[in-house]
Amino acid sequence: MITLNSPLDMHLHLRDDDMLKIVAPLSSQDFAGAVVMPNLVPPVATIEDVKAYRDRIEKAIGNDDFEPFMTLFFKKEYDYNFLKEAKKYIKSIKLYPAGITTNSEGGVSQIDTDELKETLNAMSELQIPLCIHGESNGFVMDREKEFIPVYETLAKAFPNLKIIMEHITTKDSVDALKKYDNLYATITLHHLLITLDDVAGGLLQPHLFCKPIAKRPEDREALLNIALSGDKKVMFGSDSAPHPKSSKEAPGCAAGVFTAPIILPKLVELFDSHRKLDNLQAFISDNAREIYNLIPLKKDITLKKEEWEVPSDYDGVVPMFAGEKLEWRVI
Ligand code: DOR
Ligand code: ZN
Repeated sequence: MITLNSPLDMHLHLRDDDMLKIVAPLSSQDFAGAVVMPNLVPPVATIEDVKAYRDRIEKAIGNDDFEPFMTLFFKKEYDYNFLKEAKKYIKSIKLYPAGITTNSEGGVSQIDTDELKETLNAMSELQIPLCIHGESNGFVMDREKEFIPVYETLAKAFPNLKIIMEHITTKDSVDALKKYDNLYATITLHHLLITLDDVAGGLLQPHLFCKPIAKRPEDREALLNIALSGDKKVMFGSDSAPHPKSSKEAPGCAAGVFTAPIILPKLVELFDSHRKLDNLQAFISDNAREIYNLIPLKKDITLKKEEWEVPSDYDGVVPMFAGEKLEWRVI
């Protein structure tokens, strides 16, 4: 048996409407809170949007003890007064380069320090962390590496702004993260487990296709090393990104791996197999509390070693490890 105190998922897609109703309870039963991404259509970009979305999430999770940490979709028009009011309702702001992934068309087309400085200085002063989807629009395997100079420029120009490199997938990002005090990162479960070979090395696996795409074995190794060590600069963020089966098993497959129902069992198995279970609490909760300066709801989640089979789908949404047996279960 292992008990985790207030597990947190610091990067989660809950979507809206019917999909929200299907997926939200799967996170709210296992986690004490999650940073909820704002890439709805249209994006969550006003205080009214944030409040209304939070209400819909709360309806979908019922009585579970779970706090949705709301985010805004970054716009360079956000000024100090707006952000001062917004801070009461959000935990961070998510910046997407325009068009880089699902529903990011309204993102930033040119990440220019000068153009963004009013908003970023205000966020820095108000201590609102900036989460970034860090990819260029270059060759798919090089996109994250090509974005690193942008992180470095921002880290230097705004030394008091906490910048979170979302879902890092490469050794280069791990190295960059270590160089600047104000850079932090989330790491997903799937990027700790798979490489590009698992996605496209044999028959194409649409349910493992995501952005950023899984990379090379040495990249996964670097991610594993830093996550398993409990390093305070990294925290768990699933990037669980559900899409209907019909959008995944299709030409033009949507990007996203749906991990919400299997996260804790697989993380326990992974940390246990490396004899690092003692560091899981840091990765799954304690580091996030420090980085985000938050006190989560008190919620103990216990897992025991007992086999169970992952359902083939949750109302038409296919999870990672669908139909496979897992060693650990949440009780
Ligand atoms: O694979 C992904 N899916 N990556 C993202 O950045 C967005 C996400 C989604 O919203 O589907
Ligand atoms: Zn995401």
